Amino acid sequence: MTERYDLLIRNATVIDGTRAPRFSADIAVRADRVVKIGRLDDAKADTEFDASGKVAAPGFIDAHTHDDRLMLSAPEMAPKISQGVTTVVAGNCGISLAPMPAGRRAHAVPPLDLLDKEGSWYRFPTFRSYVEELQAKPAATNCALLVGHSSLRVAEMDDVERTANPAEIGRMRERVREALSSGAVGVSTGLYYEPANAASTEEIIEICRPLKESGGIYCTHMRDEADRVIDSLEESFRVGREVGVPVVISHHKVVGSANRGRSPETLAFISERMKTQTVCLDCYPYSASSTILSFERTKVASKVLITWSTPHPEFSGMELEEVAKRMALPLEAAVEKLLPAGAIYFSMDEADVQRILAYEHTMVGSDGLPHDAAPHPRLWGSFPRVLGHYARGLGLFPLETAVYKMTGLSAKNFGLKDRGVLREGAFADITLFDAGTVDESATFAKPIQAAKGIDTVIVNGQVAWRDRKPGGARSGRVLRRSA
Ligand code: ZN
Ligand code: CU
Repeated sequence: MTERYDLLIRNATVIDGTRAPRFSADIAVRADRVVKIGRLDDAKADTEFDASGKVAAPGFIDAHTHDDRLMLSAPEMAPKISQGVTTVVAGNCGISLAPMPAGRRAHAVPPLDLLDKEGSWYRFPTFRSYVEELQAKPAATNCALLVGHSSLRVAEMDDVERTANPAEIGRMRERVREALSSGAVGVSTGLYYEPANAASTEEIIEICRPLKESGGIYCTHMRDEADRVIDSLEESFRVGREVGVPVVISHHKVVGSANRGRSPETLAFISERMKTQTVCLDCYPYSASSTILSFERTKVASKVLITWSTPHPEFSGMELEEVAKRMALPLEAAVEKLLPAGAIYFSMDEADVQRILAYEHTMVGSDGLPHDAAPHPRLWGSFPRVLGHYARGLGLFPLETAVYKMTGLSAKNFGLKDRGVLREGAFADITLFDAGTVDESATFAKPIQAAKGIDTVIVNGQVAWRDRKPGGARSGRVLRRSA
């Protein structure tokens, strides 16, 4: 008898997200689940794909994003779906869209302005109200949400340039509890940034206490990724130990010419701590970083590109040196004129980037900034760049390992049950790509470009990307963590 399915992928080369060697099979989907993997010659389905010569992998998980608002303002999620990403972890670096009581002017506080430069998006007084809007108007991708410590500070403190007092800590802790009970998977901090830099380690620990009881996770953009990177790693590990939860070191890197070549030291330290506590890390596959513009940050970079500027949008995409020349101003004065603004900083050693990316525990996360006028190409290019440039081109690791770093490993670390693996019973988040041609199209000069070689993307059994275009589905869900 002919079995009928909702969706059938024929003749695929399956890379299942566990690092197991690839194999040939057909894949059958019913509703939102993969129900059969094997030879299905006699089966029929309403939607069929011939994947001859193509790889079928679990949909990619972007372990580090700032997509909190993109899911609402551009729910087709083109920068991510076009790369094969089916789940985004949002709310990173201390910055989350929720919760934010009315009247806090969060959009005027860098780096919270990375999510909203206009002033109309920080409008969710509770985390629950944000989750409810995402559920009422689903995006094309699933999400796992973090609540940001800098957002909590802006919500609860009138002066963020000091450590929080006990009353403020109590209120922030209550907000963490509310977020976790509404579906957040953890807390993020951005201790490097001004709104959080004055926070003591004890403040973080006390605010993060509810993570333990809810099985949440602690993600951190560390206080220092340059000269004091080891101290900052230790501070991060201490929070994890004292709260009793896993730690995610966000976008691990070593910054500045004085710190070139220090990744063996940081990775050895991470490996050492992993023996006694749960530590995870993510990395984007580029040797240039991107965040808000500040003169301090330009000092450690060999080159700086402007990604956006509120007073001078015409300079987006241009080198800071060129901007200063046109303004006939010294660099520092030019920076002042451009603010608020964003930038790309060329400030890492490519050998360090490759060593961190290849480290066996490193997940891939884009750290893309979706509302920048001339964004860092990591927004549109991270995943295909790892598959194409680093795995196929440089042979940094096998394709099975590359896929694992963006699927199975991330699902395990974030506790995303039945995601990140392609097996019977798992959710039907599936990406079909051409292993011979997959690569980024985005460049620093032309960053807004859909990837090469990503054919078809399926989210919860619905087609979200096909023939280099959005497939129409908005089937993303807010995922909870099962620890
Ligand atoms: Zn960050
Ligand atoms: Cu980030």
